[in-house]
Amino acid sequence: MPHLLYIESSPRKERSASIKIAKAFLDEYKKTHPDDTIETLDLWNTELPSFDGDTINAKYSLLHARPESDAERKAWEPVAKTIDNFMRADKIVISIPMWNFGIPYKLKHFIDIIIQPSYTFSYSPEAGYKGLVKNKSALLVFASGGAYSSDMETEGLDHQRSYMNLIMGFMGFTDIKSIIAEPMLMSTPEEKLEIIEGAKAEARNLAATF
Ligand SMILES: Cc1cc2nc3c(=O)[nH]c(=O)nc-3n(C[C@H](O)[C@H](O)[C@H](O)COP(=O)(O)O)c2cc1C
Repeated sequence: MPHLLYIESSPRKERSASIKIAKAFLDEYKKTHPDDTIETLDLWNTELPSFDGDTINAKYSLLHARPESDAERKAWEPVAKTIDNFMRADKIVISIPMWNFGIPYKLKHFIDIIIQPSYTFSYSPEAGYKGLVKNKSALLVFASGGAYSSDMETEGLDHQRSYMNLIMGFMGFTDIKSIIAEPMLMSTPEEKLEIIEGAKAEARNLAATF
């Protein structure tokens, strides 16, 4: 049965717009795909391995096809486990707040763990970079305080959507859907409610065919 991994990157729980929308999606998904399995990865309640010292050496050993030292092998274990769990999923849903025009550092940490040679991408001088993710669908749920979709004044400031689309594409995702809730801080409470309800409806529609 298909397995869906939901990755949550806002710490704001019930106050979070991106989580509200993702939850509406998942509720509908459960109804329409009763036999699928769903796992939640709450990045604010998950201890990710730090990416330093022996871990980086292990990455370069992999990249240059050099044998690993014992210390590198040990440091790499939790990295490989995290990537295996990501790659086990057939479908990925990520809820993503905009923080300082980019993404929260917990999500960046997760990305630094999973973007690895021979796991999620390959490189050769002849073929260049190739994503190793095949046949997985992805939904990215974005929330931001300002509006970045159509405003000429904010053009070029968004490093949330552009970065996430780049990174998913780099891994090989080709089927990437997105839902955007904006502007969360620059609207009245009524407008904000309307924007979130609209995004939730969009999410429920998408869930049935995801
Ligand atoms: C640390 C931090 C940085 C933020 N930086 C930005 C920003 O650069 N641009 C923006 O439009 N909104 C910014 N916001 C507002 C959030 O994007 C907005 O509150 C959004 O709803 C967050 O998603 P969430 O509700 O799912 O947590 C920031 C919020 C926080 C907490």
